[in-house]
Amino acid sequence: MLTREDCFKEMGLLPRWRLKNVAPASRRPADDVTTPPDSKHPHLTQGIHTRGYLPHVKAQGATYFVTFRLADSLPAEVLESWADAPESERARNSERYLDRGVGECLLSRNEIADIVVQALRHHEGARYTLHEYVVMPNHVHLLLTPLGEHTLSEILHSLKSWTAQKINGLLGRNGAIWQRESFDRVVRDDDEMRALAAYIRRNPVKARLCAEEDGFRFGSAWKNAGRDACATSPVAQASLPASVQSLDWPALTAAIKTCTLCDLHQTRTQGVPGVGDIHADWLFIGEAPGADEDRQGEPFVGQAGKLLDAMLGALRLKRGENVYIANVLKSRPPGNRDPQPAEVAACLPYLERQIDLIKPKLIVAVGRIAAQNLLRTDTPIGKLRGRVHEYRGLPLVVTYHPAYLLRSPADKAKVWEDLVLAVTTMNHLKAGTKP
Ligand code: URA
Repeated sequence: MLTREDCFKEMGLLPRWRLKNVAPASRRPADDVTTPPDSKHPHLTQGIHTRGYLPHVKAQGATYFVTFRLADSLPAEVLESWADAPESERARNSERYLDRGVGECLLSRNEIADIVVQALRHHEGARYTLHEYVVMPNHVHLLLTPLGEHTLSEILHSLKSWTAQKINGLLGRNGAIWQRESFDRVVRDDDEMRALAAYIRRNPVKARLCAEEDGFRFGSAWKNAGRDACATSPVAQASLPASVQSLDWPALTAAIKTCTLCDLHQTRTQGVPGVGDIHADWLFIGEAPGADEDRQGEPFVGQAGKLLDAMLGALRLKRGENVYIANVLKSRPPGNRDPQPAEVAACLPYLERQIDLIKPKLIVAVGRIAAQNLLRTDTPIGKLRGRVHEYRGLPLVVTYHPAYLLRSPADKAKVWEDLVLAVTTMNHLKAGTKP
């Protein structure tokens, strides 16, 4: 087992612990660091303590790098087997393990990542300064400085319990969402601070969730670039009724047709749920209804729809037979403008419920808007094509929108390649073979 002395050394706290942002009067001599907790103000005492099998450092005024994980992302026995390893090795092991994307990866669902971002930002500036954050598919990285008398353990406890309650409510289930243990370490100096901040910003790029650091909606780089996520908007909050997750097909369709969660209901004729076989293997997802769709209540019925039908024909598919067609947005944006993030956040639970009920084998994201919103990325469509992505545990292939093809018919060959990829993937899925 690591000794206290080892821990101090590893964490760079010996020979001298350089406390940051602490008023000179409250500074203690370095060798005071091991003082046992003061029973009156345990949260103000500095030193190493353990909430389980990993040591944690309490340091008043310090900035922490924190990782907390979904309960199924890092099995307890794996974590336990690292207990005696040096901190740097534990951190490396843990990162490698998390990058494998073990477990259900609940945080890859937008509405769940939204809950975490809302929670993180709620007490920002009051309980802590939040320097950087990123919500990855099965874990969260933070760089934060607790403020005043707030302690890291209290902050993490409150974050984890509030979000767990919300996530369980959304999923209509009970049980552990987060692993009890978090990983935290004190940031020793400005160089380390810069390196860790860069690491957090780079994380979603490394995991191929986006091409640029500020292209991932659930990270501080996005927010700092001024492209604030819809995650904190009241519309997004209104868009998370747990009930959507429990609606049956007729109730879901009725809810979509009459939805008033965002302002689009004021200008649309009707909500457009989708069309086709509700037990289909194939799910095509477009952007949003246009003028014809808004009038007729069915997706892809205009000129672009004719071309989509031709694409289906190339796959020997027919609208309504083993195919379902839906959109990310169920209501028409005025003048066919791009959907706004808050509108997408409000509408996505409907699509997610549709997917859960249809249980398609494969999804084809039609066009940039559908692809980027489903994959939570800003990566250009040209770079998203040509490989199989994953959305809600299902394979997802990206192709150009038929409306774009009407303008750029030369790219039809690329669409053909995408459809070949889709059909090959489907054949492997049906045969149970690997691509
Ligand atoms: N474009 C889309 O993305 N969806 C439609 O339903 C119609 C046009």
